[in-house]
Amino acid sequence: MRFWIGVLACALVIGCDGPSPAMDGGPDGGADGGRVYEPEPFEPTAATLAYCPRDGAAVEARITALLAELTPAEKIALLSGSASAVIDGVWEASVNTRLGIPGLHMLDGPRGLSAFSGKRGTAFPVASMRGASWDPALERRVGAAMARELRSAGADVLLAPTINILRHPRWGRAQETYGEDVHHLGTMGVAFIEGVQSEGVLASVKHYAANSIENTRHEVDVVIDERTLREIYLPHFRRAVEDARVASVMSAYNQVNGAYCDLSRHLLTDILRDEWQFAGFVESDWIWGTHGSVESLRAGLDIEMPAADQFRRLRRALAEGDVTEAEIDSSVRRVLRAQFCYGLDEREREDVPSVRESTEHLALALEVARRGVVLLENRVADGAPTDAPPVLPLDRASISRLVVLGRAADVENIGDEGSSRVSPTDVVTALEGLRMRAGAELTVTHVTTLDDEARAAVAEADAVIVVTGLLAADEGEGDIGAGDRSTLALDPSEVALIREVTAVSPRVIVVLEGGAAITVSDWADEVEALLFAFYPGQRGGLAIADVLFGDVNPSGRLPFSVPNAEADLPPFDNVSATVIYDYWHGYRHLQREGVAPRYPFGHGLSYARFAYSGLSLSASRIGPEDDLIVRVDVTNVGDVRGIETVQAYVRAPGSRVERAPRDLRAFAQVELGPGETQTVALAIDARDLAFYDVEAGAFVVEHTSYEVEVGASAEDLRVSAPFAVE
Ligand code: GLC
Repeated sequence: MRFWIGVLACALVIGCDGPSPAMDGGPDGGADGGRVYEPEPFEPTAATLAYCPRDGAAVEARITALLAELTPAEKIALLSGSASAVIDGVWEASVNTRLGIPGLHMLDGPRGLSAFSGKRGTAFPVASMRGASWDPALERRVGAAMARELRSAGADVLLAPTINILRHPRWGRAQETYGEDVHHLGTMGVAFIEGVQSEGVLASVKHYAANSIENTRHEVDVVIDERTLREIYLPHFRRAVEDARVASVMSAYNQVNGAYCDLSRHLLTDILRDEWQFAGFVESDWIWGTHGSVESLRAGLDIEMPAADQFRRLRRALAEGDVTEAEIDSSVRRVLRAQFCYGLDEREREDVPSVRESTEHLALALEVARRGVVLLENRVADGAPTDAPPVLPLDRASISRLVVLGRAADVENIGDEGSSRVSPTDVVTALEGLRMRAGAELTVTHVTTLDDEARAAVAEADAVIVVTGLLAADEGEGDIGAGDRSTLALDPSEVALIREVTAVSPRVIVVLEGGAAITVSDWADEVEALLFAFYPGQRGGLAIADVLFGDVNPSGRLPFSVPNAEADLPPFDNVSATVIYDYWHGYRHLQREGVAPRYPFGHGLSYARFAYSGLSLSASRIGPEDDLIVRVDVTNVGDVRGIETVQAYVRAPGSRVERAPRDLRAFAQVELGPGETQTVALAIDARDLAFYDVEAGAFVVEHTSYEVEVGASAEDLRVSAPFAVE
């Protein structure tokens, strides 16, 4: 812990120990006059050419020439970070000034420009809230915006996205990923990476692989059978490589099947490089993420971050013949390929403050927050006639007094204090947002203590809004954040507060903030409305108010299941040295067990209502490499415009292996005015129906019967039809 505080301290001032001389090809790393070294010839491959936004063949030739020029010491220096703290606001690596190699300048993170930069930056809503938007095009824009802010701060590698599966909501970094479902996670992650890289910034998808626990993250051995690994914990990383051409991958701290990820040749070479043809570089996670020198290099690790520790031993290993220069050249080539393919040697790194927290980016942060708020309950007021309108949206014209209370009401609740932390200039809290949107006729009273006077105000209020949930002290990264959650329940004092308020007010609206599922079943039936607002970023308060006042029709859909009780989920073990991740979690687990969730994956209410009809398939029989096009008519039968997220799940009742009761295989959104109908088309790739056949060592698309079900959540399936693969 002391070490990390040291790093933090250095990170916040200017790197304490600065670049070590040997690392930048300095005095003892300079040219060895007269050495003649012929690097192995390298023929560009389809994968290296596809990886490279520039002329890949020219880049490879340039690298080959540099490999002849670089001394062994200089090569080894390129395979590690420059210092154990940020230098001028970035984590620097792989620099060689003698030969004009610009280096990599890395910064987090999944929520925006890292606070380690020492600069202000836009605090976007956390990834799980962006996952609730179910909008890849929107996520692509977020990736591009974050990349622009990173470049403005002198960085060229964004250490994001985090796409580890949300296996259990007690995981401290649940907020940092998009959700529990493989297809949804991969789709959102690919979009983010495309956005980042469209701005010339290298994305670094993390943490490869199976990092879904914080408190034991440095040691835990995650035991996963090969089918589960391939079908549940890797497909989204594969899409990052194959679909988004991600520039780099960060290996995870933990072990998988007995091997630390940086030492796992199965993960880093057999799968990542040989099967998926990944042509970029792999950097370790920080400080504790590298467990070997030659061993890690041979497994497939290219860069030790943030500085050489284990990799310092490579020089002796080379001198003693324990590793060949050709092996070192392979990693150097990947590190230089990334730099030259992205033109890092052709750009000036300069500070451009106007890009950060720009009007455009703040508007985007608000837009995303508006799209991520999930309306979970919306009932008529206590005692009102059953045909009365539900309490939301609040009608400004017919109310005059609001009371706001709760632990998160006036907190700048933007998420984890760990490595994903950002430093926005100003954050609009829920209370501030309500006051900014209330208008002149409406008083918004903030109650911090429920004394008699406050109770009277609550009783007289037209509506009471309790903003509560989780704070940064309840969940976050291990070591430097709060770590894993200890419970899924709301703090008992907050439950008591909700109960006190519902005892005196017929209109109680609860707004929950947090990274992932909070169990609410023991009190949610006593309130009239319930929203999940995640950690909504620096304009989140406005988004919450916009939804409550109906200026925005909520369209967020849960990217995770909310169980009635934690016992309904697979156990979360963040103390044992070894854990087993099996094939089941989330809605796939709940449905297999026949346990109903409180709120299902994909669930979210709207102020409108949507009807589904006219399901048609492009074919009733398709080939194993064909797309099945599913069309369905969606009608807005409500009286306000709204966005519906149409979800297509597939069952395989005839499969020869056990499958989940259903799996999400496609989704699409449609915006409809009142009474409007549109036909929504969803494409299901037959290859996505495959299961991993461990004996065959391959994904197999079964020629059997399937059923596609289309609806508004994993439990709200409206229409279905059979089809077959032959
Ligand atoms: C942390 C995190 C990783 C982050 C890195 C640099 O330990 O696990 O996600 O990118 O260090 O801050």
